[in-house]
Amino acid sequence: MISRRSVVPNRRRIFFALWPEEGTRGLLEELSSRAHAVFGGRRMRTETLHMTLAFIGEVNAGCADVAQAGSDWLSSQRAFSMTIDQLRCWRHNRIVWCGPRQVPASLAGIARSLCERLGAAGFKLEARPFAAHVTLLRNADCRGVAPEFVPFEWKARQIVLVESLPLGGGARYEIIGRWLLAGSGEGTPQR
Ligand code: 2AM
Repeated sequence: MISRRSVVPNRRRIFFALWPEEGTRGLLEELSSRAHAVFGGRRMRTETLHMTLAFIGEVNAGCADVAQAGSDWLSSQRAFSMTIDQLRCWRHNRIVWCGPRQVPASLAGIARSLCERLGAAGFKLEARPFAAHVTLLRNADCRGVAPEFVPFEWKARQIVLVESLPLGGGARYEIIGRWLLAGSGEGTPQR
């Protein structure tokens, strides 16, 4: 782990996610804008677009510490790349999302290991199978036809532990842990 914030002693809602670099974030934002023109709904904030790897949910402050400490193996995982080449709308929850048709083995492996390790550490994760997706819109109208777009590469460099804090009707995300994947180059990852 390369950074962390001090822990607040209360119950918290946390999850691990793949966090895009600025360039990828810009491409996701563009896709979100094009999707919004077709599907409507509520756009997710650009600065918090992410791909959830393991959703822990509500924990107390001590548990958040355990999740952070137990995840330092993440830094030994190699950076990887995936092609974002599908844009779809789930009718059951009215979410418009994008993701890779071909889920890289390393991505599936990291998500699986994270869940297994968190389970072994005593966290009770929901048995929702990993779906490699970035939520772009909520409350969308799925009757639209997804716009064509040029597939792009997401060079995955960093994984974050995020705390979701209630804010008005939605949530504010705060990064409480950050891991840079091995072989992803020099320098501090961009937020
Ligand atoms: P979603 O975008 O598909 O709703 C913060 O809520 C993040 O955690 C979102 O990416 C959300 O996925 C995901 N999330 C919320 N509840 C979840 C659950 N029960 N299992 C897996 N991921 C969940």
